[in-house]
Amino acid sequence: MAADSTKRIITTELIDDDKRIENTLRPKLLADYIGQSKVKGNMKVYIEAARGRGEPLDHTLLYGPPGLGKTTLAEIIANEMDVNIKITAGPAIEKPGDMAAILNNLQDGDVLFIDEIHRLNRQVEEVLYPAMEDYAIDIVIGKAASARSVRLELPKFTLVGATTRFGMLSAPLRDRFGIVQKLEFYSQEDLTRILCRSADVFRVKIEEEGAAELARRSRGTPRLANRLLKRVRDFAQVRYDGVITKDVAVTALDLLEVDTQGLDNQDRELLFLLMEKFDGGPVGLKTMAAALGEDEGTIEEVYEPYLIQNGFLQRTPKGRMVTPLAYRHFGMMQPQK
Ligand SMILES: Nc1ncnc2c1ncn2[C@@H]1O[C@H](COP(=O)(O)OP(=O)(O)OP(=O)(O)O)[C@@H](O)[C@H]1O
Ligand SMILES: [Mg+2]
Repeated sequence: MAADSTKRIITTELIDDDKRIENTLRPKLLADYIGQSKVKGNMKVYIEAARGRGEPLDHTLLYGPPGLGKTTLAEIIANEMDVNIKITAGPAIEKPGDMAAILNNLQDGDVLFIDEIHRLNRQVEEVLYPAMEDYAIDIVIGKAASARSVRLELPKFTLVGATTRFGMLSAPLRDRFGIVQKLEFYSQEDLTRILCRSADVFRVKIEEEGAAELARRSRGTPRLANRLLKRVRDFAQVRYDGVITKDVAVTALDLLEVDTQGLDNQDRELLFLLMEKFDGGPVGLKTMAAALGEDEGTIEEVYEPYLIQNGFLQRTPKGRMVTPLAYRHFGMMQPQK
């Protein structure tokens, strides 16, 4: 399932197609960032306070499932602080020296955005500790007995880290972020607004009911909403007169095998596995991971949140359990226990 997960239309991970559209769709200012009112409210205060003091913003960690707007928010932070942003990602920084070079090249006030920050290796991560705490790095000069450590001052920067896997961050790194914000799945109303805005950008007509139908099936995720919008737009153009009505949305989404709850083949695979092979659970995470051929963390932090939040799956002390709601959704009888 991991191997073809990039091919699922419903995958919340970034696929090539998205890259082209995402930049044009990304809101640039906090005021245009729809939903996430708690995070937005907090960030607004922190940004205003930092600006008022003429200081860089505290180091900020953004976490939550893929496609909810972490990268977008990082760019908005830089815009609102009126500073430059340097973008990199955990796996791209291989050696401590690479990290040191990136830090040393920053300007005062810059935002350094490290995506997938949980994937930094240990030695690279250690360079970040003094950098975050004291705006300095320690460099070792010379070899063996004559080796000595020299402290290099850095510009005052803001590290913005993003991760889908909060649990994989080491405690020392986590503790060095002054601001930690969790992004939540979007409500259907918020997704509808995002869709209408995106339709505007795409110059495609969408009816409120069409947008609501798309929103309902986008599993709380803007990236997915935008991707479905793009596919449905093609349907509307080719088979209908270009307007996304509720009918167009329903027909297109059914063809794409995204059901009324936004569940796709992969979700169905996971739930059916539990229902058919394990009587609906409880099943331990390890067993489930082995049966699905997927790693535990990914199941826990990428696949499960939507299913749990929407009441299809439950985490209990004994393991995962399929809920009565899921049985009803698939029109199946729940085994009596
Ligand atoms: N609050 C929002 N308002 C409007 N559009 C949004 C919002 N959040 C995200 N989007 C849209 O969703 C797309 C995906 O967001 P983004 O790339 O920021 O997600 P992400 O959390 O960084 O995902 P990943 O974990 O895969 O890196 C963006 O291109 C943007 O158009
Ligand atoms: Mg991102």
